[in-house]
Amino acid sequence: MALRNIVKIGDPILAKKSRAVEKFDERLWTLLDDMKQTMYEAQGVGLAAVQVGILRRVVVIDCGDGYIELVNPEIISFEGEQRVEEGCLSLPGECGVTLRPAVVRVKAQDRNGKWCIYKGEDLKARCFCHEIDHLDGIVFTQRLAPDASAEN
Ligand code: NI
Repeated sequence: MALRNIVKIGDPILAKKSRAVEKFDERLWTLLDDMKQTMYEAQGVGLAAVQVGILRRVVVIDCGDGYIELVNPEIISFEGEQRVEEGCLSLPGECGVTLRPAVVRVKAQDRNGKWCIYKGEDLKARCFCHEIDHLDGIVFTQRLAPDASAEN
């Protein structure tokens, strides 16, 4: 495993759309292992491959209830809403109140290509949405709650 550099805002790669993973091979496993180490080292709760400069649909997450790997993740359902302060390892020192669903269900492949379904509530729902947004070139500052300033 190796630490990778985290891409910071201002790098145009963060606005690019990531491509689907087609090969579930050692190269993917190395990427996942490196992303895991990089996320923990940075004390993040999630990391998308684009944040280490790789335009593939790969995400790692640990919201405190266990480590998961999401390959080619898709949100299949969502309900409710939440407005909570959010940050990002690629936007150090920045935070903002976003508008996100309260509960999401995600379909994703594991490192061997097997499809699984995950449910996320609260922090985990935000994290799923935040990381999947990265795969589509979107950062959290594009998801700010419209009335965020009115709440403060
Ligand atoms: Ni982020």
